[in-house]
Parts: sequence; C-alpha cells; structure tokens
Amino acid sequence: MATTLEELTSQIKDRLDIVDVVSRQVILKKSGSHFWGLCPFHKEKTPSFSVNPSLGIYKCFGCGEGGDSLSFIMKTENKDFMDVIKEYAERFNLQMPDNFKKTDKSLKDELMKACSAAAEFYKRNLSGEPLKYLHERGMTDEIIDKFGLGLAGNSGLYEKLKNTFTADVLEKAGLVIERDGRYIDRFRNRIIIPIQNENGETVAFGARAIEKDQTPKYLNSPDSLIYNKSKLLYGLFTAKDAIKSEDCVILMEGYFDVIAAQSHGIENCVASCGTSLTPDHIKLLSRYTQSRKIYLSFDTDSAGQKATNRNAELIKEAFEGLGNIKQFDESYISSTEDKYACEIRVISPPEGKDPDEFIRSTGAASYKKYMEHAPLLIDFQFNNLLNEKNTLKTPQDKVKLVKKLIPVLHEIRNEIIRGEYVRMAAAALDIDENSLLLEIRKMNDAHIVQTVNNEDRIVTIVTKSSGEEEKAQKNLLSLFLVTNPPISYGEIKEMTDRVGFSGETLINVKSTLDKLANTVKNTREAIEQLYSQFAQDEDTRKIITELISVSEAFQNLTRQDFTTVVEENIKRLNRCREEKEYAKNRELYKSVNNDDEKARQEQLKLRDNIMNRRQLND
Ligand code: CTP
Ligand code: MN
Repeated sequence: MATTLEELTSQIKDRLDIVDVVSRQVILKKSGSHFWGLCPFHKEKTPSFSVNPSLGIYKCFGCGEGGDSLSFIMKTENKDFMDVIKEYAERFNLQMPDNFKKTDKSLKDELMKACSAAAEFYKRNLSGEPLKYLHERGMTDEIIDKFGLGLAGNSGLYEKLKNTFTADVLEKAGLVIERDGRYIDRFRNRIIIPIQNENGETVAFGARAIEKDQTPKYLNSPDSLIYNKSKLLYGLFTAKDAIKSEDCVILMEGYFDVIAAQSHGIENCVASCGTSLTPDHIKLLSRYTQSRKIYLSFDTDSAGQKATNRNAELIKEAFEGLGNIKQFDESYISSTEDKYACEIRVISPPEGKDPDEFIRSTGAASYKKYMEHAPLLIDFQFNNLLNEKNTLKTPQDKVKLVKKLIPVLHEIRNEIIRGEYVRMAAAALDIDENSLLLEIRKMNDAHIVQTVNNEDRIVTIVTKSSGEEEKAQKNLLSLFLVTNPPISYGEIKEMTDRVGFSGETLINVKSTLDKLANTVKNTREAIEQLYSQFAQDEDTRKIITELISVSEAFQNLTRQDFTTVVEENIKRLNRCREEKEYAKNRELYKSVNNDDEKARQEQLKLRDNIMNRRQLND
C-alpha cells in the first residue's frame, strides 16, 4: 500500500520525541510541565527556550523561534524538509511514497545550462556602438569581462540555441517567448547583464535599453525554476566574501551601481533585480553579516531623496515581516540579543548622483568617507522630517509632521535616547515635549494586545507584530490554538468567518485552520498539522509560533469570555479597516476637489463613512 508524504511525515513525528530531539543540542531542565534551556538560535545567558512535550513543540521567548521536532532538526542541522524526511524514513525503516519525485533537478540543470550558453552568446556579440557606450560609461574591457556584460541584437539567440535545447527549456529559462506559434528572443536590442545566484551560476538576465525612447529602460528575466527575484540579490556572489569580512553590506538600486562600486574596490554591495526589497532579501543578507549592518545607497538627486525614504520604509516593512526586528538605535544594537536586530545607515552624499556616477566622478575613497559618516536611518529620517518644518504653513501641517515623527520616535527602544530625540524634536518644532511623549506612549499601548493573562513575556512577544489590524487578526487565529477551548473548533471557525483576513500568510493559515477544524481531535494535533503543512515555509512557521504564544493569553477562559475576545477583536479589525477606508476617501476627496460633481459624490461617501463610524462607536 502506498503511503503519502503526509502519512510518512506523521509516522516519523510519532517516533521522534521532542525532548529527545532537542536534548541533542540543548541541556534541558524540567520545570512544571515544560522543559527549559538556553536557546540554540540566539545568544542568551538566561534560558528563555522552552519545550512543551505535551504539544510536541519548542519555542523561544527571546527570539520567537519555534516549531516541532522536524523543524528543530531542519534548523539545527541545516537540512531541508525532504532531506530530513528521507533520512528518518530510512532510519525508522518506513516505507517511502511511490511518487517520491526529486525536485526536478535535471530540468533545473538544463535551465542553468541554457542560461550560461545564452550569456556566452551575448558576450561574444558585444561590439560596435553598444560596446562604445559601455566604454564611455567607464566600463573597461576587464570590467565588462568580469561581469560578463553582453549584447542582444535583434534576434539570433533562439537560432543559436534551438538545436542544443528544447524550446520548452528555453522558454522556461525566460530566454525566448512564444509569439503566434513561433519562438522569438525575449531580449532584443539591449545590453545584457547576466545575473548570478549565490553559487555564481547564471540564472537570469537584466537587459538595458540602448536606443532612444526604447521602453522599458530595463527588461528583466521572469521568475523561473532557477530564479526567484525576491530571494536573489544582484552581485551577491562576488560580494559575499567582502560582506563577511567587512561585516556590513551596501544596498544599491541598480545593476550599474553595483558594477561600478565593485570594480572600484567597494566590493560589499548588492542590488535587488528590478523589484523592491523583501524579507527574504534581508534574511539572505543577515546570513553573511553577523552584526547585520546595512547601508542604503540610493540615488541622491531630488527625486532620489524621496526614493531613499520610500526604500527605507520598504526595508522597515521587510524587517517587520520578520517579526522580531528592532533597530535604529546604537545602544540597542550593542546590547541586544535579538536574533534579527540590525543597524541601518544611509549613505547620502550631497552631490545629486547615483552611486555609479558618484564613484566614477568623485572616486571610491570619497565614497568611503561618506560611508564612514553615514547617519543611522533614524537620524536620516529624523533630520529629513525636521527639515520639513521650513515648509510648514498651517497648524494642520505641523500636526501632520508630528504624526509622521511619532512612529520614527516610537521605534527607539532606549528610553534615554528616545528622550533626547523627543527633546530635540519638541524644541525644533516648538511643541510641548510632554504631549509629544504622551503621543508616543499612546502608540506603545496600541501595540499591546488586550490580554486576559497579562504576563510580560506574552506582552513582549505580542508587541513585536506590526499593525493593529494584523494584531487583531492574529488574536483571532490564535483562538484556534487554545488548549481545550470552551467552544468547539467548528464554532471558532464560524465566528472568525465573520471577517475577511488579509495578508497572504494569514489567509493561508486561516484556510488551513478552517480545514483542520473539521478533522483534528485536539490542539496538539492542530499544531502538528500546521507545522507540517508549512514545514518548508519559515515565515509562516514563525507566525504559527507567534499564534501559539498569543493563544496562551486566551487559555482557561469561560465560554462567555472567549466569545467576548472574538467579538472585541472583530470589532477592532473592522474599526481599523474603516479607518483606512476613511483615510483613503479623504485623499480621494482632496484629489477631485475642483471637479464639482465628483467632489459631491465623494462628499456623500465621506459623510456615509463618518456616520457609519459614529454608529459603530456608539
Ligand atoms: N529597473 C527596472 N526596470 C526599469 C527601470 C529600472 O528593473 N524600467 C531597475 C533596474 O534593476 C535598474 C534599477 O532599477 O538597475 C535602477 O534604475 P535606474 O536608476 O533607472 O537605472 P540605473 O541603474 O541608474 O541605470 P543607468 O545608470 O544605466 O541609467
Ligand atoms: Mn545610473
């Protein structure tokens, strides 16, 4: 009889005792129903790592890491899910599923071969005007060779490769596209920048326009079996040794920024490939820089100033996605034991140029000077905001500015340092220091979930999640994971179905929980199944661990209290969403201000919203 992967996984888990497994790496002491030890995933001096044998899980209250026996093995032995399953299936002499297919390794190999053949073709093809253009941009033949720059003409690649590779392979590698039943080259009339993965294998291409008015300026390979934009950084292969040895990394915007910097001896720099940064990019980088020092070096022209802020925002979001990042404050960094703590600085020379132009015209030494004096992101943002004060016209403008300032100040964890910044801001904007402090505190409170069981460790864990909307959703999901809940899983499902969930991860978790609600017998089983289903997805596993922590706050509630928690959180969630809608409407209303009819319609919408909100609050 054939086994499925799910069956095999649970057979293995039945045979793995979580205390045994963890004890291989951690000295555990029993205290109450749990075991405690020093967390193997972050540096700590007092034990905040716990093992719960009755649920078969571990979790660290310090860094938020958590999972089951399989994920512990995956993490500590640095293996992927399938490796662990295979190893233990063998060890326990279990039957493997018939369709245990290897992740199409041979196809991947083919795609890689096609990409390197294409790179070779483009490289040989580089000549004439485009080559001259590169020379004029300061690219020497040596640099061109080192970065494998090439040229795509009008056509030729498909013809060249069609006898060596199938059209399917070339298409899957992103090299050709099908048009009216024929294949044509994806990249035409462009300078080609090969993109390598961490191992130096060519997996994709960036292609820059060479003709006037040719759009888009950059055309990039689509994601493929071997290329995932959101997990790959351009230049990492050549930068990684330097990132390690310098223990810091510079994030740039463009391919040519990285090429210029690296070829001028600033080797620890990378860029994303035509996408915004993702948590995966950040995680990738934190594998190479131990102290997680990240410099942002984006364009510094007038539009670039805004871009830097926007990108800083993106990075902060990326960090928030990891759940555990606190930053922007040196004292915090040197004292923290936080696994994902990091330091962000902004390299922003006054000359309005991108790093490529700056380094070529002013020199690497000068760039390094700016790097040495690069302000912390908080200072960069703080100063930028304070500079806006010269443009303030009305008291409302000032309120807006203060509103933007509060979250920046709120991120400073160290009270003394925060106090200093608050004093500076209050003085610069001529506002009352204490009311500013009060506003920041209010923001603090909003981050603390209303917990019935108010243990501070729970508060710490819960406070790290980002927005209020997210928090309310997590509270709702965590109710599925309460041990012996006072109402049935079916009822929990029904109640939580009354709101829509947002965010890919939370939606996935919710729909998985919905399915589990009909099948599992108890919480332990639910947790087990959840971790298995997301065994390969570290981000989701982190969320699950967080949900389990949150669920502890809702343990041992009466039926009545439990229902109240559901209702309160649904209300909160709805309120957040109304608030968002309201803000959006206000923007809309402003934007149509000189179109009378449109303005009138927006005005009506706006009024309805306000009335609804009022009813809700009553
Ligand atoms: N980019 C993109 N698609 C575009 C424009 C830009 O993918 N249509 C990405 C590319 O990765 C590019 C980066 O954004 O390298 C930065 O864009 P930009 O500043 O416009 O280009 P530069 O790198 O400065 O290019 P150049 O110096 O050749 O003008
Ligand atoms: Mn440029």
